[in-house]
Amino acid sequence: MAATLIKGSEISKQIKEELKQKIADLKEKHNVVPGLATVLVGEDEASKVYVGAKEKTCKELGIHSERIDLPADTREEDLLALVEKLNKDPKIHGILVQLPLPKHINGTKVLYAINPDKDVDGFHPVNIGKMMLGEPTFLPCTPHGILELLKRSGTETKGAEVVVVGRSNIVGKPITNMLLQKRGGNATVTICHTGTKDIAAHTRRADILIVAVGKPKAITADMVKDGVVVIDVGVNRLETGLVGDVDFETVKEKAKAITPVPGGVGPMTITMLMSNTVQSAKMHSGIAD
Ligand SMILES: NC(=O)c1ccc[n+]([C@@H]2O[C@H](COP(=O)([O-])OP(=O)(O)OC[C@H]3O[C@@H](n4cnc5c(N)ncnc54)[C@H](OP(=O)(O)O)[C@@H]3O)[C@@H](O)[C@H]2O)c1
Repeated sequence: MAATLIKGSEISKQIKEELKQKIADLKEKHNVVPGLATVLVGEDEASKVYVGAKEKTCKELGIHSERIDLPADTREEDLLALVEKLNKDPKIHGILVQLPLPKHINGTKVLYAINPDKDVDGFHPVNIGKMMLGEPTFLPCTPHGILELLKRSGTETKGAEVVVVGRSNIVGKPITNMLLQKRGGNATVTICHTGTKDIAAHTRRADILIVAVGKPKAITADMVKDGVVVIDVGVNRLETGLVGDVDFETVKEKAKAITPVPGGVGPMTITMLMSNTVQSAKMHSGIAD
């Protein structure tokens, strides 16, 4: 069986079209323009690319975007003062402080200083707590994107055996939580990590396998069952180009559906950030969904 490709590049275009319409309606009917502030401290090249991409997507969709670039030697208290200013700015509905921050700044302190109602990254403990309790909140963007990929590719999660490999705070733990919620995925979820005794014994049971470890070929064809749906979150830069965590060429022969790398999960992350920003603008303006 050759797998169907779950193309995040196309699904994210679809979501962006829907967002454009919502943003135009917000402006026309309520005179509300969603606003996102992105803060970049220092000269990290990858971070510059990410922040640039976020700015570009804001422009494309009609979201007001403010980019604040600060020098690498910015003092922690000055960054905290900036966050406080943005917390109070009515034009700004989402605040994103690009990570990693320089070593002299306590990143946790800065993230915790963001008003949870403007935390469109979904990293604030208040929002993580709400997510765990199954309450409405900003869902972290990459796992939120994975949920959309599953939904829009027609993958049934209810009752499915889902295996997640990787327990990071930004992917593994939140996607596990979202998929186990009764009003979320309603799936049976197992999470594997470096402490797991026999990873293959778990992955071979999976109807849906989600891999976020950051190692090429961490999952090979002998570790999956026929008909599995595979979401490969990994992004590994090799001399030959970008690859995921799954041995795509062999696993795709057994899978029912699989995300490619690039063009799978990657494009969804920024799109879901935009979606959270629109959600925040509506919430701050008292507009119901
Ligand atoms: N497409 C996107 O938008 C996007 C977003 C985020 C991340 N990513 C990519 O996804 C990958 C993972 O990133 P991350 O930030 O989630 O991960 P991370 O913080 O680097 O953590 C990796 C996780 O994988 C586990 N792990 C590592 N090697 C393993 C192995 N051989 N078997 C089982 N578990 C293993 C680790 O276990 P321990 O906890 O035991 O150490 C850890 O929980 C990276 O390639 C990253 O670039 C992509």
